[in-house]
Amino acid sequence: MLPRCAFSVCHVLMLVLCLSAAEDFDWTKNDHGSFYYGTFPAGFSWGAGSSAYQTEGAWDKDGKGLSIWDVFSHKKGKIQQNETGDSSCEGYYKVKDDVSLMKELKLNHYRFSISWPRLLPTGIKSDHINEKGMQHYDQLIDHLLENKITPIVTLYHWDLPQVLQEKYGGWQNISMVNHFNEFANLCFERFGNRVKYWITFNNPWSVAVEGYETGEHAPGLKLRGTGAYRAAHHIIKAHAKVWHTYDTQWRAKQKGLVGISLSGDWGEPVDISNQKDIEAAERYVQFYLGWFATPIFHGDYPQVMKDFIGRKSVQQGLGTSRLPTFSPQEKSYIKGTCDFLGVGHFTTRYITQKNNPSSRSSSSYFSDRDLAELVDPRWPDPGSEWLYSVPWGFRRLLNFIKTQYGNPMIYVTENGVSEKMLCTELCDDWRIQYYKDYINEMLKAIKDGVNVKGYTAWSLLDKFEWDEGYSERFGLYYVDFRNKNKPRYPKASVQFYKRIISSNGFPNQREVENWRRKAVETCSSSNQLLAAATRKSKEHAELPKRNSGVLLPIF
Ligand code: NOJ
Repeated sequence: MLPRCAFSVCHVLMLVLCLSAAEDFDWTKNDHGSFYYGTFPAGFSWGAGSSAYQTEGAWDKDGKGLSIWDVFSHKKGKIQQNETGDSSCEGYYKVKDDVSLMKELKLNHYRFSISWPRLLPTGIKSDHINEKGMQHYDQLIDHLLENKITPIVTLYHWDLPQVLQEKYGGWQNISMVNHFNEFANLCFERFGNRVKYWITFNNPWSVAVEGYETGEHAPGLKLRGTGAYRAAHHIIKAHAKVWHTYDTQWRAKQKGLVGISLSGDWGEPVDISNQKDIEAAERYVQFYLGWFATPIFHGDYPQVMKDFIGRKSVQQGLGTSRLPTFSPQEKSYIKGTCDFLGVGHFTTRYITQKNNPSSRSSSSYFSDRDLAELVDPRWPDPGSEWLYSVPWGFRRLLNFIKTQYGNPMIYVTENGVSEKMLCTELCDDWRIQYYKDYINEMLKAIKDGVNVKGYTAWSLLDKFEWDEGYSERFGLYYVDFRNKNKPRYPKASVQFYKRIISSNGFPNQREVENWRRKAVETCSSSNQLLAAATRKSKEHAELPKRNSGVLLPIF
């Protein structure tokens, strides 16, 4: 599965591992590495996803307020090439076109997010409701339903209204709980007659760690050792409040479900015979997915987080733990606030124990975990630096969720792979391979008894990839960002995913091989179209340079 485009450089500590993946759980016995031919349960839901800031564009149109991502991306040096989501895929104007693409794929559901400042420009309901923003989502939801595609709607995919950041400090401030609840309540009121699947937060781990600890994401704060824990604490409370609002005010009438979408890499012990590595790997997963899932399913943070952060805080001379605590009332209020769990999963790490010094100046979420992350250099890494294709990790994560949280109903809300920007190759056989193997591991997990009800390929379109700008393309459809009309072109993976959907799985080896061959054959015509368009836009792009007197060779 070697991509024909640029390879990424690995910044993660490399380790040449001759380990076979661990054979330590029953559910991995016998068939590790083998492909499982079979189908998904009847009614399994197939989808694709997107998020508002990453695809909509129209950042300042029709009364929309600013989000923290609008402001962050306009600051120099924050995003690759200083790109922004200002116009992105222009998804705001292309509802019908994009729903046609979904129809072409025969999707059962589409996952998208609502931009909070598009509905409430200041973030505060009593200030002003932007009816034009309302109309946009009305139109999208109606059009999906007319085409028999179920909307799965995320309320918070990272685009906090800027006013709330400036006035209160965003998720550092407890007042976000009420503001978010008001926004969510408005969405239930206006869209809940048609939307039956709600996701409160998308990947709160990223919001907390990258937004408030490392500062790589908006709002760009670097509050090391405390910022992420505090943001997460308020997010968990906000999630619980919104779930209760739905439960008490809307559920009886609207009969929908409210969940949260958590992301989690799988962590596998480097040495499965070493107890310290086993514990470090468990810690890795508990500090990642468990940080949010354990309060929501069991009422409090994972014991290992309380122990490690508490001990280090004492060593650092602090009177209380840097990890906030929930009161007994809060614990019972938060526990059980999840009708389904959304899971976003892309990759895996090998984990080994590593003691970090506990000085106050070096305190951070990362050093609190006392571990090191490693990757196997043989793992394919076609796009994003962090994204290695390790399908077996997916099955392990799903089984972990089943065991830890009482086999909850799961919707996979994100899974997919990227390629680098300069890649104009629509014959993405490495993505076909990724989807084939990851979806197969999910099928094995279902056979293990994991309660997975649906799968969302990430993403429908190439789009703004946060601090990476447009340099990493996750789409099933290629978007030509240089063309102001943002045309979409199907990659080969569209054909392949479509076959999985229409067969509800993998019938037999011959057919699956055939799908792959055909998908790669048909993409060459799209490649030619794109190449012609690329030549054209290059000519346009070079005009101003010629006019300014600088002649560049045309290759
Ligand atoms: C998770 C985020 O939710 C999503 O927005 C992003 O595109 C993917 N990770 C890939 O980085």
